[in-house]
Amino acid sequence: MLYDVIVVGSGISGLYAALYARRAGLHVALICKSSSLRCNSAVASGGINAVLQTTQHDSIRDHIADTLKGADKLGRLSSVSAMATGGEEIIKELIDMGVVFDTQENGTVAQRPFGGTKAKRTCYIADKTGSSITQTLLVQCRKEGIEILQNHVMLSIATFNDKLSGITLLRRRDSNVIAFACKSLILAGGGFAGIYRGHSTNSQEASGDILAIALRSKMRLVNMEFVQFHPTTLANSGALISEAARGEGAYIVDESGARFTDELQTRDKLSRDIVKHQLSGHSVYLDFRHLGEELIDKKLPSARKHALNGAGIDILTELLPITPSAHYTMGGIWSRNDTSTDIDNVFVCGECAYSGVHGANRLGGNSLLEAAYFGRVAGLEAARAAKRGEFHPIDYALVNKESRYIETILEGENRFNINTMRRNLGNNLYNNAGVFRTHDSLASSLEYIHYLMKMSSGLCCINKERSDNVELLSIIEFRNSLTVAEAMVMSALGREESRGSHYRNDFPDKMINIMKSIP
Ligand code: FUM
Repeated sequence: MLYDVIVVGSGISGLYAALYARRAGLHVALICKSSSLRCNSAVASGGINAVLQTTQHDSIRDHIADTLKGADKLGRLSSVSAMATGGEEIIKELIDMGVVFDTQENGTVAQRPFGGTKAKRTCYIADKTGSSITQTLLVQCRKEGIEILQNHVMLSIATFNDKLSGITLLRRRDSNVIAFACKSLILAGGGFAGIYRGHSTNSQEASGDILAIALRSKMRLVNMEFVQFHPTTLANSGALISEAARGEGAYIVDESGARFTDELQTRDKLSRDIVKHQLSGHSVYLDFRHLGEELIDKKLPSARKHALNGAGIDILTELLPITPSAHYTMGGIWSRNDTSTDIDNVFVCGECAYSGVHGANRLGGNSLLEAAYFGRVAGLEAARAAKRGEFHPIDYALVNKESRYIETILEGENRFNINTMRRNLGNNLYNNAGVFRTHDSLASSLEYIHYLMKMSSGLCCINKERSDNVELLSIIEFRNSLTVAEAMVMSALGREESRGSHYRNDFPDKMINIMKSIP
């Protein structure tokens, strides 16, 4: 197949990018490895930041300042400022497409406070903002004639004489490797917090496939050490309890019912406070009991449901045990403000991108805005590049190489348990490359990752079925996870300071001169 523009990833950034490329009159395909609704955008529940005409006691200047402060001196002013300035337009556009934000009594968009600011800046749809926006955008993409291909797993970027020619993919329906040609490619395949399996708000599908592919294509990954731990996730599973809870006034308490931290500080600091409290022997809980049933059912229905289904807790009357879990990855594929990358005609947006916005720590509510804003930029830029570009031949040696890779996994004899290995990687990363790290913990994690890399060649499918083989996908994802885990841990070893979400017990201070580390 030939497409002007291919977008990989069906979260908010990918959907936005596809819409804008399509609106430029181009033939656009949107590719996702499973269902189009399984994306991290749908998990981000609490809201989307924007300073509106109607927002009280706030300004775009404050949004920029708060974002840069949260980023702990690693934010790029130009990208932060572009995003914050474009916020209101994105909200209006979403409303025009059919997103129904919660409103105040006077009919204006309601906003709640989120961590890292004093302002009420976060627009929301109860505590299901990400999934509502994703669904609306998906409907819009279908309406506007974007070809959506589910169950296609991207394997590599194809180039010819160093020029983009397309991508190779695993078609899950029959496990064949195929190639699509394109003039422009937009990578929007999400982050990699799912590699902390068992300790993550993400599904295991957030395995960093696109970052691993980028690395194999010699694109730069930057700021990989900055992994955000969300402070409030269910203690038994890592399932997200949205920051909306704290925005609406829920407390963080210990077993005595005492508050011990500022619930609306940034996620990096709050996660550290919680883990420190746990390490000194306390249990930590979210306390909703003072909020009352009416507010909870109106503004936090998902929190109530997740607590009941995931932990058997009725938050109206009981404390909810929580702990921090890996939630979002700030680093990613290096890009310029126009989303262009190290390869001509390849653009990147959303969580897999390093856009310069989040630096060392992201503010809650900024991810959805960043995804929409830079998704739009990527769509426009990719369309422009496609219009002046041309198709280049696909090198079928690459397709054959990928086919052999898939056949080896499908046909070989399995020697290990993939699920155990994925869980072990997650446990190891959480313990050694978690909220607190040291040289020794990171070095031991790296050693373990290298051990798993060797073992992973013995991972093959037990089930040899070629149609929708979940084991095959799991093995591909796990191998990508290991590539990304290695990059992350090596970056964390290299940053001998503490900044944002990266806290080194052996280097608790910040380096004074960090200008050279801003990409
Ligand atoms: O807590 C949350 O609702 C997550 C939001 C986000 O990551 O931006």
